[in-house]
Amino acid sequence: MPPLNVILTAGEISAGVQRLARQISDDYRHKNPVLLGVLKGCFVFMADLARNLDIFVEVEFVTLSSYGRCRTETSGEVGCVLGIRIDVRDRHVLVVEDIVDTGHTLKFILDYLQDRTPASLKVCALFDKPARHHVEVPIDYLGFTIPDVFVVGYGLDYDEKYRHLPSLYAYEGDP
Ligand code: PRP
Repeated sequence: MPPLNVILTAGEISAGVQRLARQISDDYRHKNPVLLGVLKGCFVFMADLARNLDIFVEVEFVTLSSYGRCRTETSGEVGCVLGIRIDVRDRHVLVVEDIVDTGHTLKFILDYLQDRTPASLKVCALFDKPARHHVEVPIDYLGFTIPDVFVVGYGLDYDEKYRHLPSLYAYEGDP
């Protein structure tokens, strides 16, 4: 196993998730928002975020493809949105992302959703790597800004490994 150096501990992440949940609960009270998670990486974050909310929400997921297996950056060619099973028209939609890297994934999904005229459209991202952005994307609720290193854990993978780790680590292997 390559060396994994802790960037954020499970406790630090938990505190950040609780802070985000408080903000979202305050801002979306009585709005019955749709939390739209971008799979797969969001699955841990979504589960923790949802359990810290004290408002009613609907939870949905979409799957997109960007990274090829064993690759560590997006190509900029993001695949089709799959699996949106609800009509987002006139709904308050909050996109839930684990990480914003180049921004291509988020831009693609925001453009897709905006065309479907939601009542509002905002973004909650747990991790952001601003040094890597290729495109401008709004992040309305941000957990942590992180350095430009490849990270795994808390839902994020390398070659489908390490998603289960409760902390966030810099992956210092040779991808
Ligand atoms: C990762 C991550 C984000 C996206 C961010 O997903 O979960 O959705 O990349 O990268 P970008 O800002 O450069 O577009 P990935 O495509 O690796 O799929 P996964 O969530 O299934 O691991």
